[in-house]
Amino acid sequence: MNAIVVADQRWAIGHDGGLLFSLPTDLRRFRSLTMNGTVIMGHLTLNSFPEGKPLPQRRNIVITRHPDTLPEGVEAAPSPEKALALAGGPETPDLWIIGGGSIYAALLSRCSRVYLTRVETCVEESDTYFPNLDKLPNWEAESAGELMQENDLKFRFIEYVNTKLNG
Ligand SMILES: NC(=O)c1ccc[n+]([C@@H]2O[C@H](COP(=O)([O-])OP(=O)(O)OC[C@H]3O[C@@H](n4cnc5c(N)ncnc54)[C@H](OP(=O)(O)O)[C@@H]3O)[C@@H](O)[C@H]2O)c1
Repeated sequence: MNAIVVADQRWAIGHDGGLLFSLPTDLRRFRSLTMNGTVIMGHLTLNSFPEGKPLPQRRNIVITRHPDTLPEGVEAAPSPEKALALAGGPETPDLWIIGGGSIYAALLSRCSRVYLTRVETCVEESDTYFPNLDKLPNWEAESAGELMQENDLKFRFIEYVNTKLNG
């Protein structure tokens, strides 16, 4: 199981229920990596999608205490651990944690890798964060891609590996 996230230099990932950045190259990469797999997310992340609908061509598992409010096409789980069990466990192929902040925090230690898109800026307003992998034990940046630019933003893809699980 892996996590995928786009964050600024201070690991900010969201504000007011939405994303901080719009990067078409990053969205294409997200789509291609997660396509035909299983995505686990929190209810607020589902709500942030267009019309609150699940991601097409993927199995969508949504963590919520209010399963009755979910749209068709998603499976509800009452906790992060139950979501993981429903998905088949952390070794399930093509299983992705896609946010938001509360779900990343809950399931990060079970992830083998984090696919980070780091945007080389510090946004002014943010209220949701990814754990700082540079300060956590057991996480190492394994590879960093070249610097790219889009919409006046510089960014790069970085893969972090959980050395405890990949030791
Ligand atoms: N930059 C990125 O890559 C990225 C990716 C995803 C999301 N985001 C951003 O992150 C923000 C959303 O993150 P968030 O942390 O506020 O919300 P979230 O994790 O998406 O969802 C929180 C909701 O999930 C459910 N939940 C969380 N923990 C639970 C638990 N232990 N047991 C049962 N249910 C639980 C609850 O739903 P109920 O209230 O229904 O019970 C809770 O309100 C948005 O701004 C979004 O745009 C950024």
